[in-house]
Amino acid sequence: MNKERLLKIMNEMVSVEIAAVTEYQQHAYISDDPHLIDLLEDFSIDEMEHIEWCSREVVRLGGLPTVKPMEIKECAHESKAFLERDIEIESLAISRLKEFIKIAEEEGDNRIKKLLEEILADEETHHDKLKSMLNPPTSFKEKLNENMDIGAGLILTGLFWLSLWLFPFYSAFVSDSRWAHNFAYPLILITIGIAYKGKKMSSDLFAMISAFMIIPTETGMISGMLSTEISIVLLAAVIILIVVEKSRKQELLFFQHRWRRWLKKHLITFAFLFLLHMPFIYWFTRVMFGEPAEVNLPPEPPSDPTHWGTALYNILVMPFGLIGMAERLRGRLRRKIYFSKLGYWWSLMIIITGIAVLGIASGAWMIFGIPMVLAIIILIISIIAFKN
Ligand SMILES: [Fe+2]
Ligand SMILES: [Fe+2]
Repeated sequence: MNKERLLKIMNEMVSVEIAAVTEYQQHAYISDDPHLIDLLEDFSIDEMEHIEWCSREVVRLGGLPTVKPMEIKECAHESKAFLERDIEIESLAISRLKEFIKIAEEEGDNRIKKLLEEILADEETHHDKLKSMLNPPTSFKEKLNENMDIGAGLILTGLFWLSLWLFPFYSAFVSDSRWAHNFAYPLILITIGIAYKGKKMSSDLFAMISAFMIIPTETGMISGMLSTEISIVLLAAVIILIVVEKSRKQELLFFQHRWRRWLKKHLITFAFLFLLHMPFIYWFTRVMFGEPAEVNLPPEPPSDPTHWGTALYNILVMPFGLIGMAERLRGRLRRKIYFSKLGYWWSLMIIITGIAVLGIASGAWMIFGIPMVLAIIILIISIIAFKN
């Protein structure tokens, strides 16, 4: 293994990354586009991580990590110029990385090769996001594809769930109001989905509170009716906040910088974490230890075919919650699949298999025919938009 050669490429990576951080930070400070500011701040943090990873490899190889940035360029102080320059930085990093990965392979250093591949995945994500900001999708198919994310998945799952309880199952609620949690839960899913798409800290906060309500609802501490009322209020709050913030071009909720960055990233992570409580409480308390609070919740034993739909949902929502949390931490799975897209497809699967199981268990195919056809149409449209 030629250590000098590896040292040279890793230090060159450090130089590229220092320049990227410096330029991104400057662009973020002077930009007036809130979405671009968020994006550049996020990217510059990724680049800082890249500096750290590469510098540690330099030290491991017995070298001294450089502090010299690659050439830094000043560009015109407007969003378009920033975007063009940022895309240029990413393209440069991508071409170097591809070359360096080959060198690492030739030198037989698998550790560095893997590290560079991981950085390459980040840079490709940065590149694609910046590109789509510079040239936003114009055709309907492209717009649709861009909007097929885990947020849309949550909204769709919520809408299907809600419609089942407003129509075929409504009579169950009329005869036993403990079923009201089936209005609260879909409303919570829709609230998180809308907040995810709105990308505003204030609405994320309300969505997180809404998701938290899953815990007292699923443990039977509060009634489904009360939970539904709270969910409606929080959903309305989230929608109003997003509309107001978008029109004001300013954040309603302001935190100190350190808090701001952390909350922006993690409020939705917490919403997904609370969502994960739903299957855990269902399987590990309601099913395993019987009904802890039958005052507020009707029994839903998975052994009873009527409740197979619930049982299946509570299996499939576990990976779904994890996908939501992973999306915040890392953009992609094994460099190939965007977690956000994976969440979308997973939610379509929850909807379709859920309706199928309800149909099989009840034998009432006619009732579930319409939502099933609708779900399959959405699936087909999504596949067409995705293949575009
Ligand atoms: Fe980077
Ligand atoms: Fe980057």
